[in-house]
Amino acid sequence: MNETLNYQSGFGNHFASEAVPGALPIGQNSPQRAPKGLYAELLSGTAFTAPRHENRRTWLYRRQPSVLCGEYRPEPHAWWKTGAKDGVPLPPNPLRWLPFPQPNEPQDFVQAIRTLALNGDADAQVGMAAHVFHANRSMERRALVNADGEMLVVPQQGRLRVTTELGVLEVAPGEVLLLPRGLAFKVALPDGAARGYIAENYGAPFRLPELGPIGSNGLANPRDFLAPVAAYEQGAGEYEIVKRYGGALYRAQAKASPFNVVAWHGNLCPLKYDTRHFMTIGSISFDHPDPSIFTVLTSPSDTPGTANCDFVIFPPRWMVAENTFRPPWYHRNFMSEFMGLVYGQYDAKPEGFKPGGASLHNSMVPHGPDTEAFDKASSAELAPHKLDNTLAFMFESRWRFHPTEFALKVAVLDPNYADCWAGLQDRFQP
Ligand SMILES: [Fe+2]
Repeated sequence: MNETLNYQSGFGNHFASEAVPGALPIGQNSPQRAPKGLYAELLSGTAFTAPRHENRRTWLYRRQPSVLCGEYRPEPHAWWKTGAKDGVPLPPNPLRWLPFPQPNEPQDFVQAIRTLALNGDADAQVGMAAHVFHANRSMERRALVNADGEMLVVPQQGRLRVTTELGVLEVAPGEVLLLPRGLAFKVALPDGAARGYIAENYGAPFRLPELGPIGSNGLANPRDFLAPVAAYEQGAGEYEIVKRYGGALYRAQAKASPFNVVAWHGNLCPLKYDTRHFMTIGSISFDHPDPSIFTVLTSPSDTPGTANCDFVIFPPRWMVAENTFRPPWYHRNFMSEFMGLVYGQYDAKPEGFKPGGASLHNSMVPHGPDTEAFDKASSAELAPHKLDNTLAFMFESRWRFHPTEFALKVAVLDPNYADCWAGLQDRFQP
């Protein structure tokens, strides 16, 4: 691979990139003979007739078209599940998991996927899955193509070097990576073992939320999303192509690398984003706005303002509100919340919620600050205070999550989670 990590910036931009000068046709997409003996191939991320502002597609100019992949055969995977049908009924209890340990056996990014919670139906293009992974082996001559959904990867420990058909992106904890549906990629682990979270989104592609009265600046700014530049793999030899398709995994033995795209142009591409560039907005008087103010990306559903999935972060920020209980209030919400912690402490659960762990609060399941956080925040002196060195996040969905059997049986499930609220006394003084 021509390995330089160059990026082009912008969300939804139409990029053009060539690894060899002159490889990209000028002025048309599919000339009779594409430059340099390449094949032209279209990858569409939306229906052809999707409205212009939602339409996503990319033209690839490659050494061989991706149809040359060999025949797919079933590839077992015990832990990667798809859609509500793969979940188990859950009483309306809150759930929490301690950090997920390193696997005993070598496993790459694909083998390491463990589904914790899911909803919807990939065939109906509705819903999402929340996975964790803890990989300890790089994908060498092996690529994944996920036809069921796009993948939003949230690294928590260790960098990921991700080779895609469109170029190479490297992400570290604190950054996130958005991989479009249907794009081949592989994950190498430059730091050794790597752990993190994935939202697999079967629904509408993630986009930036509308900003309303906030105006044209703020939250995640388009220019901070980075796309790779074209790069292709040089080495010859067979390649294993693994494909997620209709909730099952398949494997084919290809004669050559799928990472053979020499030039491309379009607006369907992998993107990385550093959450440190997120411009947080909060109260500068009293109370706090709804946590939707922390939305980085949203996958809308057919109901306006009611997301298939929102990706929300709780990054470092100043707390300045006067006469205010500053952590999140107690609540039970319409939306269902899957949370993870990349690093630091989360202000509503300073001790019990650990980096690399997770929690699930489904629709109408009450939750909020634990006893310790409540006591501290109720009597804290309300000077300006910075929540620092912390990054929690939420995959929030209108569809109730179903935990997997794995999620309910795994040793790191915290059986005493609800005890964190047991100390909240009746303090009523009529
Ligand atoms: Fe919540």
